[in-house]
Amino acid sequence: MVLERTLLMIKPDGVEAKITGEVISRVERKGLKIVAIKKFLFTRELAEKFYAVHKNKPFFNELIEYITSGEVVALLVEGESAIKVVRNLVGPTDSTIAPPGTIRGDFGTSIQRNVVHASDSPESSQYEIKLIFG
Ligand code: CMP
Repeated sequence: MVLERTLLMIKPDGVEAKITGEVISRVERKGLKIVAIKKFLFTRELAEKFYAVHKNKPFFNELIEYITSGEVVALLVEGESAIKVVRNLVGPTDSTIAPPGTIRGDFGTSIQRNVVHASDSPESSQYEIKLIFG
């Protein structure tokens, strides 16, 4: 049994589409625990830190514009193998190929506007949780 914590964040397009409750519901129905919830607007500085790993990608500026364009809702999620379980609930990055039944497959509209972010490793979850929840 590996009890893990991960960060799941509803992005501006997801908040706008009012799927926050739906995302929380899917997490809870999967048996995971919501430890904390925070709704906030990213500053450019915090967004650049959060996505530092993508700094050299061609879509970095576009990504920062998008993530700072409206409020987000960050969920601190805990449970058995939570990082992998949440990634599976979320689906692949590109919403256009994410299967139905996944959050991105059901609600995302593109590779960028993919409604949620989820930590992809123990290292990134630790980094992201510390940055957002302190
Ligand atoms: P996320 O899981 O938050 O991690 C990085 C984000 O960058 C990703 O979701 C997308 O929103 C965005 N992204 C990834 N690849 C691309 C791409 N090729 N073009 C535009 N945005 C992208």
